[in-house]
Amino acid sequence: MQLRCMRTGTTAAAPTGRSRWRRWSGPAVLFSTLLAAAVAKPAAAADSPPSGEALFKRNCGTCHVISQTPAKRQGPNLYGVVGRHAGRLDGFTYSEALKNAELVWTDATLDAWLTDASKFVPGSVMPYRQADPAVRSAIIDYLKSAGGGGSTAADAPKSD
Ligand code: HEC
Repeated sequence: MQLRCMRTGTTAAAPTGRSRWRRWSGPAVLFSTLLAAAVAKPAAAADSPPSGEALFKRNCGTCHVISQTPAKRQGPNLYGVVGRHAGRLDGFTYSEALKNAELVWTDATLDAWLTDASKFVPGSVMPYRQADPAVRSAIIDYLKSAGGGGSTAADAPKSD
């Protein structure tokens, strides 16, 4: 709409500019908020540690599976390993050392085994060592959750 100035006779746009600015400022604020969120996201993702499953795949997956059906690689199937007597899975040929070890897999024995397998059971043949306690415990938690085990009753040392 046009307004005619009574004194000069010139025309000027009606003061609609203000309301047009209001209409546009909303999306602009929203856009800059989204932009800030998008920029912040990759940094947050990099901070979160890898999951136990990812760590298992990377550290153990070349030699072990966790499977309810018989399956083995270079190492034995770790399904239900927590609470199991060491070196006793049918169909896997263990070292004499692990077969004869009087050992039940619990949080504590797994932690020592993953720290330095051949030091914990001299004569065993698993070539693996993990110095980081956080990585070991994340992997042990994953063994418990994915492996059908995890009964804490098995944490008490047994002598069978
Ligand atoms: C390079 C291959 C290799 C890698 C990597 C490896 N293992 Fe093993 N693992 C073996 C072998 C071989 C044995 C059998 C050792 C023996 O007989 O002395 C074994 C045995 C075991 C046992 C004993 C199982 C039983 O039935 O008594 C557990 C538990 C185990 N590994 C867990 C792990 C975990 C968890 C990881 C990853 C953090 C891992 N291993 C990485 C090869 C490997």
